[in-house]
Amino acid sequence: MSQIEFINLHKHFGHRQILTGTNLVLNGGYCSLLSGTNGAGKSTLLRICAGLEKPDQGEVDIGLGQQAWKRYRHTLQLETVYLHQQPYMFDGTVMQNLAYALPRSTPQPKHKQLVSEALAWAELESIASNSAKTLSGGERQRVAIARAWLRKPTVMLLDEPTTNMDQEARRRTIRLLHSLKEQGIALLVASHDPKHFYSLTNSWLELSAGRIEDMFSVNELADNVIPIPSSQQAIR
Ligand SMILES: Nc1ncnc2c1ncn2[C@@H]1O[C@H](COP(=O)(O)OP(=O)(O)OP(=O)(O)O)[C@@H](O)[C@H]1O
Ligand SMILES: [Mg+2]
Repeated sequence: MSQIEFINLHKHFGHRQILTGTNLVLNGGYCSLLSGTNGAGKSTLLRICAGLEKPDQGEVDIGLGQQAWKRYRHTLQLETVYLHQQPYMFDGTVMQNLAYALPRSTPQPKHKQLVSEALAWAELESIASNSAKTLSGGERQRVAIARAWLRKPTVMLLDEPTTNMDQEARRRTIRLLHSLKEQGIALLVASHDPKHFYSLTNSWLELSAGRIEDMFSVNELADNVIPIPSSQQAIR
């Protein structure tokens, strides 16, 4: 599944219509940035894409023709990961938090190896034995991304992944997102700070009045930019 398309999504809460016919295409190895005012419906849209929130109406196409969202709910839950701005950490160490992502059936040596790979990949080795509940916001986000990475998702939906982070924490997080993109994962990042994601972004979308507009090309985004290292530099 290298492309997933959401068609004509509608969602209301009470009297308020949040999504009013939203269309969205996510491609493997491609990052879309989603902006919009507070309450525009970004988190709601991400949760619908992750199979966590039910739309009132809408269809999904994973390359096999359009089907009702309901039909693909389970597939969406398996193939996508939704990352909250303040990721939940389970009791236990960072290592144990990563281990939760792996199926119980994973043989012990393989299990250990995968957790070690995730720790190295997300630069978490020095805090591997720390209690996950005591981590800083930036560290938590990296644990959450590494935990998601172990699940080998097709799509990652990131809700304000760098809000309240200092520059170094933000850089480290964005470096991981570059790596995910290079591995062919489709990324959708909701953020109020598009400029931080310049090096990562292929298309910049604005959610407004319940619909998505293809807002600016990435070149236009460049005009608003604080430079971030290119992906080649970033992965080093
Ligand atoms: N479960 C819910 N029940 C009732 N209203 C909800 C629910 N979830 C979201 N809403 C409302 O839907 C609207 C869109 O919320 P959402 O969290 O998707 O916005 P957002 O674009 O992510 O905002 P922000 O930029 O502040 O994160 C808001 O007015 C919110 O109060
Ligand atoms: Mg939100």
